[in-house]
This record gives sequence, C-alpha cells and structure tokens, in this order.
Amino acid sequence: MTPWRAFVSVRPFRKSLDARLAFSWSTTGECDLQEPNAWASEQIGVRVFFRPVKGNMIKKYLLAPGPTPVPPEVLLAMAQPVIHHRTPQFEAVVAEVRDGLRQLFQTQQDVLVLASSGTGAMEAAVTNLTSPGDRVLVVNGGKFGERWGKIAAAYGLAVTEIKVEWGRAVDPDAVARALDEYPDTRLVLAQGSETSTTVRHPVDRLAAVTRGRKALLVVDGITAVGVFDLPMDDLGIDVLITGSQKALMLPPGLACIALSEQAWQAAERSTTPRYYFDLPRERASQAKDTTAWTPAISLIAGLRAALDLMLTERLPAVYARHELLARAMRAGVAALGLRLVAPDDPSPAATGVYLPDGVPGKIVGYLRDEIGVTFAGGQDALKGKIVRLAHLGYADAFDVVQGLAAFEMGLARFGHPVAFGAGVGAAQAVLMDAFPEPGR
Ligand SMILES: Cc1ncc(COP(=O)(O)O)c(C=O)c1O
Repeated sequence: MTPWRAFVSVRPFRKSLDARLAFSWSTTGECDLQEPNAWASEQIGVRVFFRPVKGNMIKKYLLAPGPTPVPPEVLLAMAQPVIHHRTPQFEAVVAEVRDGLRQLFQTQQDVLVLASSGTGAMEAAVTNLTSPGDRVLVVNGGKFGERWGKIAAAYGLAVTEIKVEWGRAVDPDAVARALDEYPDTRLVLAQGSETSTTVRHPVDRLAAVTRGRKALLVVDGITAVGVFDLPMDDLGIDVLITGSQKALMLPPGLACIALSEQAWQAAERSTTPRYYFDLPRERASQAKDTTAWTPAISLIAGLRAALDLMLTERLPAVYARHELLARAMRAGVAALGLRLVAPDDPSPAATGVYLPDGVPGKIVGYLRDEIGVTFAGGQDALKGKIVRLAHLGYADAFDVVQGLAAFEMGLARFGHPVAFGAGVGAAQAVLMDAFPEPGR
C-alpha cells in the first residue's frame, strides 16, 4: 500500500450551481491505486491532488538554468511590506536600480525594467524596432533562437533564419553572408547563451559583423548577462535583454532591456502596434525614476538587493566565479565519462551532458523527487537524452559538488557503473583555485 496525502478541492463547474458547494479538504491515508489523481478525476469527476507521503524530509536544491536560487538578502528585501509606487520612497529604489543595471549592462543607456518574463522583453525588442514587412535575421540554434523566429513571424516580419546545429555556436561569417544577401535586414536576433543547448554564441564577433551595417544586433542575454562579460556599449550591442530568474538571483517576473542610440532611433520610426511594451513611453517614465504601469514593487526591491550583492562582489569576480564553476562541472562530468552537448563553445551558465546509454530521461524526475536536486532535462530533439546542470546566479563551489554527487548517485540508481566520487573529486581539484592558501 502506498501512503498518500490528498488535497481535494471541489468547485461547482456550472455558474448555476450554488457557490456554497465549493469546499476543500485534506487527509492522509493509504490506497493501492497507481495513479490516484487520474482515478479521481475519471471516477468521481473532481480535481484531487494527491501527494505521496514521504518517510524522510528531502532538502531541495535548485540547479536548473532558471529559475535559480534566491539569496536570503534578496528574499528579505522582497518580504518587506509593499510600499506605494508613486512615492519618493519607491522612486529612490528605482533610481538605485537604474544605476545598478547600467553598471551590470555596462552601458550609458537606460536599462528599462518591465513586469514580464524574459520573453516579454524579446517581444518588446521586435515590436519596438520594426515595422510590418521588415526583414530580420534569426540565429536559430535551439529553443530560444526558434522563439525569436516565432515572435518575428507573429508580427508579420520577413524572417531569414540561420539554422545552427544544436550544440554548436553560430558562425559569424554565415551571419555576414546572410546580411550581404539581404542588405535591407533590420535586426539580427541572437542569444548570448542558448540555454536549451548550453551553447555560448560569439556575441563579440556578431557585433563586429553588424557594426557598419544597417542591421541592429539584438542579444537575448537572459542566461548571459551577469554570467559572463558582455559590455554592451564597448561591443556595440544594440539591444541587450535579461530576465530576473537567472543570474539576477530573483524569482521570475521581471525583464530588463537596454537600447543603443541607434536602436532608440529605430524605435521612433517603428510602426508595429504596441501598447503595454511601449519602450519610448517606458523610457520617459523611468527617466523620472518611475514606471509607466504599476511595477512589480517587491521584485524591484529584491532587484536592488541582488544588484547590491553583485556589485559588492564586483562584476569581474562574478564572471570569474561562473567560469570556475563551469570548468569544475565540466571536469566532473568528463571524469564520469559523459559527453558534453556543447563541447566547443560551452556556456558558463549551465553544462549540458548526454545521458549514457541505458539511462532514461526520467532520471531528471528521480533526482528531483527522490534525491532533492532539480536539474533540467532536454527539450524537443534533446528531450530524454540530456541533463542540464546549472551553475548560474546564487551558485558557488558546493552547488557543483552537491550537484555532481547527486548526479553520480542517480546514475548509479539507473544501473550506470559509477566510481563514486570520481566526478566530485575532479570538480574539487578545479575548485581548489577558489580558496586561498591558509595564512601561515
Ligand atoms: C536564453 C533564453 N531566452 C529566453 C528565455 C525565455 O525567458 P522567459 O521564460 O523568462 O520568458 C529563456 C528562459 O529560460 C532563456 O534561457
């Protein structure tokens, strides 16, 4: 018999039914059903949520490439009572956040904060910088590159797509050739780090291609900003985007976007309809330390705390930490004999590895539910074939050590021969670089 904890929530399906029929109830008991949730909805027509009763407490570790863990300083900042946004108190918070984001993006421009997930800022870039029928070039090397193409198509743009083999970085020469073929291209839409394949694209070389051409370079830096050095102004990136639930160490819900001077000029010319994501309007508000719409007040309070942590650590140290963790993770998985998804251009945000023969994709669920460590699996063609072990944001040496230890144990549970400690030891050897010699 399996013990289950059940939470039953019954709501009237039809408006005509008396709302007093609604009730909820929970209990703990045992039954021999394999799929109690499915049984309940089929047999008694109510939504029942059963959770297995666990004998042991399982501590949870979040090692997915977003959302990422939130540091206590940020949690506490978000737990403060909500203040009103049209006040000098909130304007002071916005002013500090604007300053911090400029430093993070390494730009003189305004970095706008939007209440949306990262995709909202991707859509805003497209709608604010184009007019219907314009041509854009999409670098499609994974799920998020594909998303650029879908957004552009949704707004009636002509899309040139450079398909990049999953696990490889884009060849900037291919981008140059496509721009030569279509010189009227308005935007090049790419990722800094393609999270679905754990590839890092060569943004500096893409910027060298777009410099001096008509096309503007738009970089989805959602798992790149705050992970590795991406100086927007120095490189000549025209639009840079990030999201809160990655290196910014916040829950999901905020997107940040900055535009170059040329991109602002393009925004003035654009005729694509837009309302909520009207960047010139938002820029005018944020220049006055406020926002066009009701902001995500608590998340912005958290953002101030997160930026403070990153800027106190100092950005070069933040990037060096990510690089070290990524090197350690790669050393660990190599010692386990696993193959990288992105062997040539791995992202410092997350390490993708192919599962060994015979180990099914459901190891990801097993690691999460039975061992307590959440990694991410693969998407689309890589579904069931890879695991992505993340090390971005609020991550340090022992996240890598714990992640590898859990991964070794999971692999062993699925019958893969593992010399326990092999991956962990290889990572430790790399991570020693992070710790100073003891004072004599
Ligand atoms: C590179 C990249 N682009 C875009 C997105 C989409 O962002 P969101 O899910 O916040 O809309 C993600 C999220 O994982 C991402 O990693």
